[in-house]
Amino acid sequence: MAPISALIGSTEDSARQILDAIESQFQLSDDALVRITDQFLKDFRLGLSEYNHPMAMIPTFVTGVPNGSETGIKVPAGYIASIMFFALLALRYSKHLQLLATIGMYHGCTALVWGSAKQHISLHIACFRRLLCCVMPGEPHTWTFLALDLGGTNLRVCEVQLKGNHQFTLRQQKYRVSEALKTGEATALFDYLADSVDAFLTEFPSSPNSAPPDPFATGSSALDLLDTSDSSPAVPLGLTFSFPVEQTALNRGKVLTWTKGFSAKNAIGHDVVQLLQDAFDRKHLHVRCVALVNDTVGALLSRAYTAGGCILGSIFGTGTNGAYVEKVENITKLGDSPARKHGGDMVVNTEWGAFNNTRTTLPTTPYDNKLDRESINPRLQAFEKFISGMYLGEITRNIILSLIDAAPYPILFNGRASALLNKHYGLDTAVMSEIEQAWENGRDQPSSNDKLVNGSHAISNASAAHPHPSLSTPTRHFTEVDKLSPEDRSRLERIRNIVIQRFALDAADVTLRDAAIVHWTSCLVANRAAKLSGCAIAAVLVQTEKAKLGGGFVPKDEKITIGVDGSLIEHYPNFNARLRASVRTLVGEEVEARLNIGLAKDGSGVGAALCALQATKQGL
Ligand code: BGC
Repeated sequence: MAPISALIGSTEDSARQILDAIESQFQLSDDALVRITDQFLKDFRLGLSEYNHPMAMIPTFVTGVPNGSETGIKVPAGYIASIMFFALLALRYSKHLQLLATIGMYHGCTALVWGSAKQHISLHIACFRRLLCCVMPGEPHTWTFLALDLGGTNLRVCEVQLKGNHQFTLRQQKYRVSEALKTGEATALFDYLADSVDAFLTEFPSSPNSAPPDPFATGSSALDLLDTSDSSPAVPLGLTFSFPVEQTALNRGKVLTWTKGFSAKNAIGHDVVQLLQDAFDRKHLHVRCVALVNDTVGALLSRAYTAGGCILGSIFGTGTNGAYVEKVENITKLGDSPARKHGGDMVVNTEWGAFNNTRTTLPTTPYDNKLDRESINPRLQAFEKFISGMYLGEITRNIILSLIDAAPYPILFNGRASALLNKHYGLDTAVMSEIEQAWENGRDQPSSNDKLVNGSHAISNASAAHPHPSLSTPTRHFTEVDKLSPEDRSRLERIRNIVIQRFALDAADVTLRDAAIVHWTSCLVANRAAKLSGCAIAAVLVQTEKAKLGGGFVPKDEKITIGVDGSLIEHYPNFNARLRASVRTLVGEEVEARLNIGLAKDGSGVGAALCALQATKQGL
């Protein structure tokens, strides 16, 4: 049986004071939430009007969101144009028979020039077939895209088939990116990306297709397209690059800065599509990067594809960010560029991870300052360092260490740390998640509100108006563990076991009360993160005129669809419900109840494929 508490007598009072002081530093009053959201809105407007602000508000040149019917049917513009040209010529100067002869001659000539009449003619037949498919009802057709996703915990290579009717299939393989690659030369990193695509295509071929490569055939696979003969089209690939990039076109953009522990040299200021294409070319891979997309844009597009519309895509994972649909007229920094003149809507990548880098509005504690000072990008990505999975474990570790070292008496673990606890980033956010889950298990579930569902399903908001008490009142720090119910004590036992195991501590040094304090610490840090995340979402709702700060506004839209992705929102217990509670505080119950927040699972892959489709339609 574990000792209940190692603290006695007056040490109890000093411990309580220290814990109370920490708790108050992590509390966020409603006023503070409003102030932060208001600052968000100011920074949104600043970023939309001028370049070079930390919250970059990057125009993505994605000018619409899908509605789910996109299939990837495509006929190369060059073929249509050339055929139409010859047809017009023939019509102008010949009778009908001559028209056929002219087209025949055209086929013959181009085949001769390209050296493979058979292949060329079959390409034209496929092309005509596609043309017919476009105008005739029948089976849905698909086309396969490759997607490469860099910026989360792992590198992923995916093969995506857009089937239309909101459906897609995706095959993917994850590859580890070592610290050496993250911080070494950019060419080495991009060579590794190219090698991973090569490995994916070699090691995970699609179901073999015995037919000759037909790039327009229904369900053709990326591997089918990987024919290195010069006449075959290169495999189109969409790159999801989840770092700040100043985009100048759908397939062009310069790296602004690295985040999330990356710092590869000689990438900043360079075009990321070119860096990747150069790597493909160095390896003689017949792959062409046709589109560049941020993971938030991917989440927005893929959620729109599966749900039939979406206003915001956001990531709460290793990093955090959001992309939303903005009126082009509001992106005044585009000046009188063609994009601005064209008007309409454009997806803007906010890069909200860099919100308030000056930390004038964010509720910074000594634990946050320590984290920032010791990070590889001090004074940057301030908001991200309060919110995201990469950092929450480290903030918690900082608090735990301060409690181990507390004076005049240690508050945790008899004053003993482990090698793991002493290690920079030694405590993974996943462990906090495990600890909170151990407490929640067997407890009245707050509701399905905290459950994210894949695809077109949304997170229920059933409990929105009646939050579970543990969501509105963060768990206290249990100075009196012995007064807890037997059920709660057995929950703490579970947590104590996790703490012993995951922190690599001696069991004799871990009391039930220690377990309670570690649980309380995790709740404090995660609760603050979720509430701040709610500020970012509320700011987008206000910016897009779906809500008013302070509430009292009923949007016309029945549902306001939001796509989310990332380990925190998907797996961290109560994160979504806490976030919703914060949004409710900021914009009122009516708007919050209409939020249709759903997981944009595989958003990076599907979003990149949708962008690649858009790019190929534009002939990029
Ligand atoms: C990057 C964003 C990205 C986010 C989520 C941040 O660190 O700056 O571009 O969207 O992480 O992956």
